Amino acid sequence: MPAIVIIGAQWGDEGKGKATDLLGSRIDYVVKFNGGNNAGHTVVIGNQKYALHLLPSGILTPGVTPVIGNGVVVDIEVLFDELDALIARGVDVSKLRVSANAHLITHYHRTLDKVTERFLGSRSIGTTGRGIGPAYADKINRVGLRVQDLFDENILRQKVEAALDQKNHLLVKIYNRRAISADEVVETLLSYAERLRPMVADTALELHHALEAGKNVLFEAGQATMLDVDHGTYPFVTSSSATAGGASTGSGIGPGQISRVVGIVKAYTTRVGAGPFPTELFDASGEFLRSQGFEFGTTTGRPRRCGWYDAPIARYSARINGVTDFVLTKLDVLTGLETIPVCVAYEVDGVRFDEMPVSQSDFHHAKPIYEEFPGWSDDITGARSFDDLPVAAQNYVLAIEKISGSRISVIGVGPGRDEVVVRHDLLGDW
Ligand code: IMP
Repeated sequence: MPAIVIIGAQWGDEGKGKATDLLGSRIDYVVKFNGGNNAGHTVVIGNQKYALHLLPSGILTPGVTPVIGNGVVVDIEVLFDELDALIARGVDVSKLRVSANAHLITHYHRTLDKVTERFLGSRSIGTTGRGIGPAYADKINRVGLRVQDLFDENILRQKVEAALDQKNHLLVKIYNRRAISADEVVETLLSYAERLRPMVADTALELHHALEAGKNVLFEAGQATMLDVDHGTYPFVTSSSATAGGASTGSGIGPGQISRVVGIVKAYTTRVGAGPFPTELFDASGEFLRSQGFEFGTTTGRPRRCGWYDAPIARYSARINGVTDFVLTKLDVLTGLETIPVCVAYEVDGVRFDEMPVSQSDFHHAKPIYEEFPGWSDDITGARSFDDLPVAAQNYVLAIEKISGSRISVIGVGPGRDEVVVRHDLLGDW
């Protein structure tokens, strides 16, 4: 029963697609267990480029059953936009399964996300504006709408009216916006219900059967460890569990069924939105990483903040997630640098921290302590084995492996799906 979890080990956009591509045809199910259409992955197949936000990447792999788990928040309008775009390009989407317990994002969640961010001004989180936070807030507040509510019009109407009773007061009296009509929300949701019905399932039960039958099930986290609502840089986080534990609560499989946790880590660091980022660069080096790595958001198009590799964060992620293997992505982006600084620890008010400080204020003030490693100038995109890499690149990988808390099993050396060096098979014996 091989359940393998893939998580982002930094602040997102580490390139999880590298690992999913590599596992490709050996996977039977790909499960999204957290987040919603705030994610963004670009998948390149042949000369076709697909930008997915809500759908699990497995939707593009023939033979794979893609699953949207109960931990996801589903914007049903986006779901069908993405499905229709894929259908128009000849992709078979008929295998998609959607949990009856997943929560829905509606018009009022999107509106509230945007107005609260505006209201926060300089204290804003820099959310994607997709309604993620308000939808999860409703879930925890027990006033959310679930996929199964679409099939009982009375219940749906009652729930929408109850939610809007309170939210319209907020919108009108605090935020000076127009009230949202419950009828319109209900009508929009119901207009998708019949199309959604055949996809809706008890996905926890289906995954249980799949694992019992020895199928390979891949759990793919949205966002990343440092954006996790419990373990990330709160409050500058997303509102879901983006760490390996979330794979269990967000899909309904037992934690004991997880056999492998793959952490995706970039050879440097990026972040979108506000919040602390000790190794952030504001100089030409930051510009170099942004332009070489094409670091612009898939979902919002925002330029990503860029900085050097941060080993305490990798170690923290290895620990919080129980990472068994790292996939180091975008090593090629560092080609051409004379020396490459790596953050090995922090200094906070004269005190050295080898691990992530638990206090948010300390982390805000953390200054990176760097070690420098020699760079390389040879193009590495053609490397397919570790020995093909220039010695300086090998040494960089070995040095960061030593201080990052787990072995580096795969190295990304270029944007193409085959541009990888595999040191250990992610599904092989450990
Ligand atoms: P939200 O998920 O839209 O509520 O945004 C909360 C924070 O998470 C913001 O800083 C976003 O920029 C960040 N975020 C959300 N999704 C992603 C992602 O897929 N990659 C990187 N950052 C993300």
